[in-house]
Amino acid sequence: MNQDCQSIVESVINKYHSKSDHLIQILIDIQAQLTYISNETKALVAKSLNIEENHISSVVEFYSLLYNKPVGQYRLLFANNITDQMLGNQALANQLTKRLKIQSNKLSKDGTVSVDFTSCTGLCDQGPALLVNNLAIPKLTSELVDKIADNIENKIPLEKWDQAWFSIEDNIQKKDHLLSSDFKLGDALKSAIKIGRDNFLANVKTSKLRGRGGAGFLASIKQASCIETGDGKKVVICNADEGEPGTFKDRVLLTSYPERVVEGMLLVAYTIKASIGFIYLRGEYTHLRKPLLNLLEQMRKDNLLGKSILGVNDFNFDIEIHMGAGAYICGEETALIESLEGKPGKPRIRPPFPVTCGYQNLPTVVNNVETLSLLTLIAINGGDWFKKIGYRNSTGTKILSISGDCETPGIYEYQFGVTIQQILEDCGAKNTIAVQVGGPSGICLAPHEFSRRLAFEDVPSAGAFMVFNNTRHILDVVRNFSGFFAHESCGFCTPCRVGTTLVKNIIEKIYKGSGTKYELSELERIGNVMNEASHCGLGQTAGRVINDTLIKFRPSYERRLATTDFIPSFNLDASLAKSRSFAGREDEPVLDNTF
Ligand SMILES: Cc1cc2nc3c(=O)[nH]c(=O)nc-3n(C[C@H](O)[C@H](O)[C@H](O)COP(=O)(O)O)c2cc1C
Ligand code: SF4
Repeated sequence: MNQDCQSIVESVINKYHSKSDHLIQILIDIQAQLTYISNETKALVAKSLNIEENHISSVVEFYSLLYNKPVGQYRLLFANNITDQMLGNQALANQLTKRLKIQSNKLSKDGTVSVDFTSCTGLCDQGPALLVNNLAIPKLTSELVDKIADNIENKIPLEKWDQAWFSIEDNIQKKDHLLSSDFKLGDALKSAIKIGRDNFLANVKTSKLRGRGGAGFLASIKQASCIETGDGKKVVICNADEGEPGTFKDRVLLTSYPERVVEGMLLVAYTIKASIGFIYLRGEYTHLRKPLLNLLEQMRKDNLLGKSILGVNDFNFDIEIHMGAGAYICGEETALIESLEGKPGKPRIRPPFPVTCGYQNLPTVVNNVETLSLLTLIAINGGDWFKKIGYRNSTGTKILSISGDCETPGIYEYQFGVTIQQILEDCGAKNTIAVQVGGPSGICLAPHEFSRRLAFEDVPSAGAFMVFNNTRHILDVVRNFSGFFAHESCGFCTPCRVGTTLVKNIIEKIYKGSGTKYELSELERIGNVMNEASHCGLGQTAGRVINDTLIKFRPSYERRLATTDFIPSFNLDASLAKSRSFAGREDEPVLDNTF
């Protein structure tokens, strides 16, 4: 290993105090300087951290933003969500690879640049987008792609690229209580301290606040369960992985409302007496790391982090930021915890749940960015106030990330109970044939359902709201989502590992016009197996969009079938015909010649 590499590795490992649970952060930092993790780097890291080299290999292979082969000085990844596809990402990627005279997914001959695709980058309201060395460039156009190609050909360092290209808008189109109210850092915590831990928890209970990350679990129950574990060390994690395609509301909260997010963490930490805090930030949001670090530093100065926070003797708490490295599954809370511990993000077997046995086996509360932000409203206004907002048992407001076929995509905050029709009108959607609420793992709604309401009891959503009009084909949407799940399955359990790939292949076959009714019934069957037998939420929900669209958009599938008869698609006689003619055999056809 050359001296430079050695000193880079050593200095990064020192920065993280040689802690092996910081392995992913260590690899991210090393890669930022050396562009990829070579075998020599692995050996040195393994030796320094006293861990197996194999473990490092398994980590590098697991995360899509870590590389074990040279990737070049410029690593370009086009976002490949359905909304990016609708905005022409493929044509722009082709333009770039043609201009640079390289093949997609292959390093250029001079070793400087690679171009490939990645999952959603959380910029669906301003796509098509790409990442260059993990930094996002939204609103790509043909002209911009040409300028990017110029910079790469002229080997202009990334720091010298026009900074305006990297500018990301909040795009807030509709504000309700959370996005419109003024907030001063420390005020919510002071209110909670004033009434004391028990009363604050009682307020959270009264508010009926449910988690906004997807599962809709009551925030008060998580906190109470953690308290019940006793007086030992406890952990609060802010889940800022936001990998569900079509979701970008956490990005906006972390950009323009970060004080609320971090103060929400303080409120949980105060209530459960936690001392350790993490923000798990998705790698695609690398641009938010620095501003968040600055905020945390300021809070330390203001005694809002550190020892005896705001004079409360037994309130000692600090927060670290951990970067994700491109794995959707790490949004699942136990996979996230594994990742925080420096391992591949494979979901744990539950129980035990994180509230009793989470990070380093310590009681841990994991909450979504929006859930934490809402806690500040409850601290300031009280639980009774909060519970009056919303609809039935869905109290409060919900932020939607709206994208797709509408005039004004962006961020919309609604009180629960609003109808889908109202949302479509507000964002200027016309001739809508389908809305995918909650991302690929959510619900696909057809027009006859647009009177349904946004609510945990009716149409729940972690935040994504993708609109498709009558110029779209539902199979394009399903094809994109099935590719996403097959790519993101962590491979831990068979129903999901095999099921997502089978679904992807069958959809591909139908898409290309060679499917039959047999394939449709197979899709249903595999979807049900995945739902019933998968280990975690990814596999359990991966078939949902298939089953939904097979019911609601069946003609769209059937029109693509090679035949509407129920015949399996593999024809043994036809496949053997050539060999038979070579061998000069005239066998009777096999009775049932299809499989
Ligand atoms: C595959 C998968 C991905 C997930 N991704 C996220 C995510 O990006 N952000 C999030 O907050 N929750 C995500 N969740 C839900 C978390 O597991 C967890 O329920 C949530 O962070 C709890 O926070 P809450 O109670 O505030 O909603 C995901 C779950 C699954 C199964
Ligand atoms: S369901 Fe899928 S993502 Fe979840 S553990 Fe199994 S293989 Fe991994």
